[in-house]
Amino acid sequence: MLVFVDRIRAALTEATGLPSDQIRVEQPRDAALGDFAFPCFPLAKVKRAAPPAIAAELAGELNANLPGIEAVATGPYINFRVDRTLLATTVVESILDQDSAFGTSQEGAGKTIVIDFSSPNIAKPMHVGHLRSTIIGASIQRMHDALGYKTVGVNHIGDWGSQFGKLCAAIARWGDELDLDNDPIPALLALYVRYHEEEEADPSLADEARAAFRELESGAEGKIRDTWKRLTELSLRELNKIYERLGVSFDLIRGESFYESMLDQTVERIESTGITSISEGALVVDLSEFDKKLPPCLLRKTDGTTLYATRDFAAVFHRWEEFAFERCLYVVAAQQKLHFRQMKIVLERMQLDWVERVEHIDFGMLRLGEGKMSTREGKIVFLEELLDRAVSEARTIVSEKNPDLAKSADVAEIVGIGAVIFHDLKKERIKDVVFDWNEVLSFEGETGPYVQYTHARLASILRKAEALGEGGAEADYSRLDEAAPILLALGRFPDVIRSAAQHCEPSEIAQYLLSLCRETSSWYSRERVLGQEPSLTAARLSLVRCAKLVIGKGLQLLGVVAPDEM
Ligand code: ARG
Repeated sequence: MLVFVDRIRAALTEATGLPSDQIRVEQPRDAALGDFAFPCFPLAKVKRAAPPAIAAELAGELNANLPGIEAVATGPYINFRVDRTLLATTVVESILDQDSAFGTSQEGAGKTIVIDFSSPNIAKPMHVGHLRSTIIGASIQRMHDALGYKTVGVNHIGDWGSQFGKLCAAIARWGDELDLDNDPIPALLALYVRYHEEEEADPSLADEARAAFRELESGAEGKIRDTWKRLTELSLRELNKIYERLGVSFDLIRGESFYESMLDQTVERIESTGITSISEGALVVDLSEFDKKLPPCLLRKTDGTTLYATRDFAAVFHRWEEFAFERCLYVVAAQQKLHFRQMKIVLERMQLDWVERVEHIDFGMLRLGEGKMSTREGKIVFLEELLDRAVSEARTIVSEKNPDLAKSADVAEIVGIGAVIFHDLKKERIKDVVFDWNEVLSFEGETGPYVQYTHARLASILRKAEALGEGGAEADYSRLDEAAPILLALGRFPDVIRSAAQHCEPSEIAQYLLSLCRETSSWYSRERVLGQEPSLTAARLSLVRCAKLVIGKGLQLLGVVAPDEM
């Protein structure tokens, strides 16, 4: 944490000769033991002594070298406790100095991270898997932004494939009955389903659909291509409504169709490495050598058309050439594990030395507690409906809690959407998310509204102080003893961002915020901030300012708006 960990590491290096990257400074399991701990086990071999003996011996030397930090040997551990005034002064001053830049760094400068996220399919309702990808991916992008990386958020829209042949053919047949200007997606979905059904009775429909897709793939201008373009535009218009509400944007919107012209080259490039073969007329890369259970990766079908995978190869080659990325992240549901595994093995077999940089950032499913979210049961909850319901329930709760609130409609939007996002991000991404409305929107417990509410409470203390003209005195930081857990947590924030970005795990930030908010609210329910001795009030107000800043910044990284009032 901040300078303390670095100082402890440096002193340990000096005392033991261990390189500093091998020195793991941890948080003691029991906070009463100290603020930081160093387990002496790694030294046992070199020193030929038992860890407790090493700890006892080292503690004395460390004490002499670490002014303001007390080292105590406890069993095999050395525990460190920072002097409380030093802790408060260092943390508060460094946060207030850096203001909203606190926690950010430039350690990623000069490196590019490509993040493929959201990536829904056009002419279909965006489903909950895409919602999760959007929320998780955008957060991963913001964390890397905070660390100074150049980030490229790509929306790899599914706008290509035989299904569009079908849809264009359907529109050619029945399009006149259609009003696509209002709410086009359900109408398109219904049209697609109808075509599918009528096709069974009348096989000529299937031929028409194939012909339409062939025409699309040929690149020819004409009615079919115009229809497809219109579909793309309409879909993007609808998608943008959702992105706007979620506060998400992209650096590149590049659908699969973008790679159309590169597909021949892509297939040739893979073929030229000698790893392809023909299987039942299709061009494939056999993968059974690596894993007997792995099906071959299909590059070109018997009829010459390409596939999702082919377009993903074109995309990754193109991205590597354009960005020479440090990491290329695919924020895609765990259902596509097989696809990305196949893709990585093919890249490995091509002996590309950047394979390691390609990562599937997978995540679990989102289910409604009431179980009506899946398309399989024939009932689709449109995402907009989900967001609308969250907002309308938030409106009820907010107006109950705070009937006099100005701009309560804006606050309800912030709270409703924030609740959905936070609920999605608070658990490890690989876990499934179950939506229980009461839990999602509760002001207590592990929820977005709870964190937002803590932020608003801190803002309200600051407003009151301002109105009363308090906080102008010089702060006496020796009096923030009882706030040590908050100060320690605040100081960890930069490490939390770093670790969350490294693991692509927004839940690390969400969990951190929950624990910071718990510490903070328990503190302000115990200690009065306003109306104390001026130097004490000033110190406590500084702490309030710092906590508000870090909670606000943490929420921002998750994509949740931090309200000053609610
Ligand atoms: N459109 C795909 C789907 O909805 C997701 C695409 C993910 N990105 C990628 N490069 N494959 O399943």
